[in-house]
Amino acid sequence: MATDMKDKVKTMIWQGNKLKLIDQRKLPFKQQYVNCLTFEDAAAAIKNMTVRGAPAIGVTAAYGVALAALKFRGDDYKAFISHLINAMDIIASARPTAVNLFWAIDRMKKIINSNKNESSRSISSLTAKIVDEAVKIEKEDVEINCKLGENSLSIFEASKKKLRILTHCNAGALATAGYGTALGVIRSLYKAGKVDYVLVDETRPFLQGARLTAWELHEEKIPFYVICDNMAGYFMSKGEVDIVVVGADRIAANGDTANKIGTLTVSIIAGRYNIPFYVAAPVSTIDLKTKSGSNIPIENRDEKEVREVMGRTIIPDYMKVKNPSFDITPGENITAVITEKGVIYKPFIENIRKLFN
Ligand code: MRU
Repeated sequence: MATDMKDKVKTMIWQGNKLKLIDQRKLPFKQQYVNCLTFEDAAAAIKNMTVRGAPAIGVTAAYGVALAALKFRGDDYKAFISHLINAMDIIASARPTAVNLFWAIDRMKKIINSNKNESSRSISSLTAKIVDEAVKIEKEDVEINCKLGENSLSIFEASKKKLRILTHCNAGALATAGYGTALGVIRSLYKAGKVDYVLVDETRPFLQGARLTAWELHEEKIPFYVICDNMAGYFMSKGEVDIVVVGADRIAANGDTANKIGTLTVSIIAGRYNIPFYVAAPVSTIDLKTKSGSNIPIENRDEKEVREVMGRTIIPDYMKVKNPSFDITPGENITAVITEKGVIYKPFIENIRKLFN
């Protein structure tokens, strides 16, 4: 399925032991790739949002570890392992909320640990295994997203009506290794003839909706309108939204979900107007170790992102601003979580746990 999927948008390209990332800060005006030659480059790209979106951050982290292994010089195996551990710590500190970052690093740690008892303890063979694992994580991500899109079709099988869908932030091909989660669901529904149009929240302050989701939908020729974040309630109150679909950065064991700032507001308004609110995410975004949303660390980003719009200051320095990057939507506001393993309904604690058995 994933192999014949022609993605027009390539978030990342791993070629000749180099990682190329499309610079998401420049889209949609410039399609420019930046090279990551070292693990420090990969960590910086995650931090400064050259690459963003939970699964894409995870894949970039995995390639960051691969770059750390490839760049190591010397023949001391112990020093090699210390170098990898240091690299993983630095990459892990790039952003705190999306659990996929830590999930991907854990996958790399497992590869490193599984080599512990190898008699040869060869740096080159462990490096090859690390690179293979990163490539595998990237491939799996695309397959998972396609599956997730496929699974969403069962929800709307009976519905004859074309859906008017509202989405927040960008959970598309750009936020993943390809196809997307929430936008993957929209792509699959569109292919099945079930989409009327998409309302795209612009998603202040970083404008992932206006710049990235709109660009992806335009490329795919899926009908859409960009709206300012504060217009969502208007359209919902007018009966012009049938469903909401968003992605997730971390889903706690009880279904509470961290996603882009503003998602909580959308979920509350959707609840007020009885509009189904779906979260689309791979199982790797579910963090059983996090009991509830209150335990999810919320990233506060540079105030400049709020002060400026596309590089132009709109709020002078003498005025105070705040910039939390995510909020928590309580599980009770969520109709269902669409995963590659199926659609999960309430009670979330029980049904999420079943996914891992
Ligand atoms: O700050 P960002 O752009 O990394 O935030 C992204 C989101 O909140 C997405 O909705 C989420 O990561 C899901 S991406 C498939």
